Amino acid sequence: MAVLEAGELVLDQPDRATMEFIKNLKAYTTAALSPKIAERVQAEADRRRTEGAPPLTVEDVAAIVSPAFIWKADRLIARQTQEMMWTRLFEAASRHADDLLAWLDEPAGQPLGTLTLDPSLEIPDYFEVDYHIQPGGMHREPLIPFVLATGQVVYHAGRNDRWALKRSVAEMIPDGDYERILDLACGIGQSIIPIKERFPTAEVYGIDLAAPLLKYAHRLAESEGLAIHLSQQNAERTNFPDGWFDVVTSCILFHEIPDEAAHNVIAEGYRLTKPGGYFQIGDTVPYRHLDTFRRFSSDWQTEHNGEPYWRQAGQRDYPALLRAAGFRDVEERPTRAGLWVTSGRK
Ligand SMILES: C[S@@+](CC[C@H](N)C(=O)[O-])C[C@H]1O[C@@H](n2cnc3c(N)ncnc32)[C@H](O)[C@@H]1O
Repeated sequence: MAVLEAGELVLDQPDRATMEFIKNLKAYTTAALSPKIAERVQAEADRRRTEGAPPLTVEDVAAIVSPAFIWKADRLIARQTQEMMWTRLFEAASRHADDLLAWLDEPAGQPLGTLTLDPSLEIPDYFEVDYHIQPGGMHREPLIPFVLATGQVVYHAGRNDRWALKRSVAEMIPDGDYERILDLACGIGQSIIPIKERFPTAEVYGIDLAAPLLKYAHRLAESEGLAIHLSQQNAERTNFPDGWFDVVTSCILFHEIPDEAAHNVIAEGYRLTKPGGYFQIGDTVPYRHLDTFRRFSSDWQTEHNGEPYWRQAGQRDYPALLRAAGFRDVEERPTRAGLWVTSGRK
């Protein structure tokens, strides 16, 4: 039996059944429980409006929602299914660990692109997080890329339509005949591969802090016949020359870094973008575009889902940060898959 198919783990029947169960349970809570909770909040918001009382604050929403059984059940299912998913996928990957790790380290025959790892790279403290409660976070567990690639399908309660979320950010890059494009924090390749597919004649570069993710992205790009240049670097300060890229982009990096690092990455993005070049951040919905209930429920990510920087990322004013860094023509807009992009020109 093949261990991998299109980079995802081929699961045995019991594991497939568990993943189906988790996916359907997540879909059920999204469709059946969450709207009922939102209805309660809406009813209270309507009552206040009718009575001329001040609008609901996040604290008011917490007071209405937190004690409700339906909310507790919804969140319990969210947390438990996620723990179950990572555990099962790690067990599945561990059964084939030798094959998977050998595949990761196998040199690509005649590589089209490059992979440069830096074992001496200083890993910032803020990165030592078990993101989305994945055991081992992004870089401390060699099997993580396989678990992540397979888990994302279930995590997004669907197939993520061959990375639809990530493609939606790549699609926001304006059409152009670019020489060089950089994807900051390219992870396992799901944001950078769509970029290379969209701009096949551009030299495409990707960086990330996590060596296991880069190794996987390299193998995947090579197996798809795509020349992509990957290196292990911190997006806060890279070794590329000033103004070297026509386009610098990032996809769901910023909610995984604290404010200080976010400032540094934007400043580095400005340094790397050539005059007239395009810079964009694709990430979660800014809090000011969410209603009070969704701001409250997003905070759950910060408190219970291994996303310690989610709230501060949601509260950042990206257009102001880009303007302060020197970018002009700053715009903020949603992607077709519900992420948000803030962009500017140098
Ligand atoms: C949610 S993942 C997104 C990966 C990829 N862009 C995608 O859309 O599939 C966030 C990525 O940011 C990387 N990362 C976090 N902090 C970083 C930093 N300071 N420099 C470079 N990469 C970083 C993580 O290793 C992880 O791969």
